[in-house]
Amino acid sequence: MKPEVISTPEAMRARSAAWRKNGERIGFVPTMGYLHEGHLSLIREARRHSTRCVVSIYVNPTQFAPGEDLDKYPRDFERDLQLCAEEGVQAVFFPDDTMMYPEGYQTYVYNASLSGLLCGQSRPTHFKGVTTIVAKLFNIVQPDVAVFGQKDAQQALIIRNMVRDLHFPIEIIVAPIVRESDGLAMSSRNRYLTAEQRRQALALYQSIRQTETEWQNGRRDIAGLTRNIRTHIEAHPACRVDYIAFVDARTLQPATESSREILLALAVYVGSTRLIDNTLLTR
Ligand code: PAF
Repeated sequence: MKPEVISTPEAMRARSAAWRKNGERIGFVPTMGYLHEGHLSLIREARRHSTRCVVSIYVNPTQFAPGEDLDKYPRDFERDLQLCAEEGVQAVFFPDDTMMYPEGYQTYVYNASLSGLLCGQSRPTHFKGVTTIVAKLFNIVQPDVAVFGQKDAQQALIIRNMVRDLHFPIEIIVAPIVRESDGLAMSSRNRYLTAEQRRQALALYQSIRQTETEWQNGRRDIAGLTRNIRTHIEAHPACRVDYIAFVDARTLQPATESSREILLALAVYVGSTRLIDNTLLTR
């Protein structure tokens, strides 16, 4: 069955309120559309933890800086709707900019400590846009549980902290990265890559795998591991490293002896497309 398409905050809240009154548990997956297998895995996870599933499709302008890919961000609403139907989604929240940011809009939510790190270095306004829209979506959809992808590890951590700090009564689940058969992490932005860039983009996954193997073998010299990753990636002429970071998975500060879980996070420009990937390493 096609999901119900809801385009106003009032109608969405009313739908959620009616469900809740009937004792339903509401699962939520916020997306920017152009759904791929990664999104579908989040939807399946949300459905495992709920009795009603809402997907939002909204390309949020406040998380794009001027000159980024807002205008060319891929969109295909009919296909997304079909995929949501196949996955058993009951409602798709599909607002437009005038609903989400009406004239006179002036309130933002941001994380004062994590937003400027890692991806925040080259995208200083990005996470403020993300936390603002996700807080708004949480208030509109009022889910019991929301699912985010580990691919955007920094985003997931920032959302977890927002939920804790602002007392949202929502369980946050972070689902594993979904990869193409050759290892490339799924992303709507992969479609910007030429065939040659797509081939070279594998350098991210290859260096992550190599580092995981060395880590499992007991290697812990982060400076040396970082150098090896840079050398491998820079051997691919289409690739330019934005950052290679070994950070504490809870604080995103440089990993130390006491970091229990270390996030190895990469951001690499492949041509003009900025791709990210990561893995968790445990001591
Ligand atoms: O991960 C995304 O697609 C977006 O950042 C999100 C969470 C839907 C907010 O616009």
